[in-house]
Amino acid sequence: MSSNLTIDRPNYEPEHRGEPEHRGSVRIDCSAKLNLFLEVLGKRDDGYHEIETIMSAVSLFDSLYFSSNSTGDLRLSCEWASGLEAHTCTSTGGISDCLGELPQHADNIVWKAVERLRNDAGIEAGATIRLVKRIPAMAGLGGASSNAAAALLAANRVWQLDWSQARLERLAAELGSDVPFFLANRSRGSAMAVARGRGERIERLTDMAKLHFVVVRPPTGLATPRVYERCRPAEQPANLNQLVRALHDGNPARVGAQLFNRLQSAATELSPWIDKVRAAFNRLDCLGHGMSGSGSSYFGLFRTARHAGRHAVRLRAIRLGYVFTTRTVTVPCQVTGFRRVNGK
Ligand code: C5P
Repeated sequence: MSSNLTIDRPNYEPEHRGEPEHRGSVRIDCSAKLNLFLEVLGKRDDGYHEIETIMSAVSLFDSLYFSSNSTGDLRLSCEWASGLEAHTCTSTGGISDCLGELPQHADNIVWKAVERLRNDAGIEAGATIRLVKRIPAMAGLGGASSNAAAALLAANRVWQLDWSQARLERLAAELGSDVPFFLANRSRGSAMAVARGRGERIERLTDMAKLHFVVVRPPTGLATPRVYERCRPAEQPANLNQLVRALHDGNPARVGAQLFNRLQSAATELSPWIDKVRAAFNRLDCLGHGMSGSGSSYFGLFRTARHAGRHAVRLRAIRLGYVFTTRTVTVPCQVTGFRRVNGK
């Protein structure tokens, strides 16, 4: 298997030259997300927090290959894409030290998603699933949630269940707060949304600005429950309207000035990396910067892809972790990639 990675373009457009054949399987490209705004409104009786967040799908993709099998077993393999090692490590450890552990088999949310769907549908079909990962884990980039959404779409298609979008979204919300975002309407040319509740109530934003980012995933990740546990909900909640207007007007400078994440101070208390990366972005000519989700990824907004690329090179040189450029995309789970591999 060869890599399609280059140091200046490590954001992996969904091309799959050189990957092994998966005869008769379907492939879904599952994007990462960034949170451009995240306010924590309060703690709920069920232990979750009531939030208001703006999420955008961005062009860093995992690949999920799914095929039905006649044994009735669920089989899942999950691995980092080849070639990532050369671009990740600041430490002497392996790739999992740099990008996070990959849960295997029944511990992986993909397994849980497919098993739940199979049980709820009352069928005994089996599946062989291969997950090729590029989205760092414990990073606030939504990789696992995106994988779960893709698994539901794949299973619904391959097992010919014909579940409606609404029914899939209900199951998605039970699997994880961010999963519904990745499933939500993919036909309106924008993969930005406001998410409310614990993150599962999605209001899609259309005709939004196209944005270019540099993302740094520090050498250590952060566990979402720990960050929420430490966070103090807002006494005076920040308002997302100005950011929505700036996004709608296509004004990246105003977008940059409105980036906000209530979880950032909690994450900063838990990891020294957040402040280190923030200080590095402060020294750059960028339009704004902030943490994504519950961290530990931190991103900056830039005027153009070229502007982002130049600054990514500078950030790589100071070795703050895994650095990649990315941009907003219009579909969170790439339905165009949802095809029979090898044209079958
Ligand atoms: O929904 P998900 O499984 O992704 O959430 C992981 C953990 O993050 C939850 O168990 C909870 O501790 C925390 N969380 C929260 N409020 C949210 C989302 C997540 O407290 N809105």
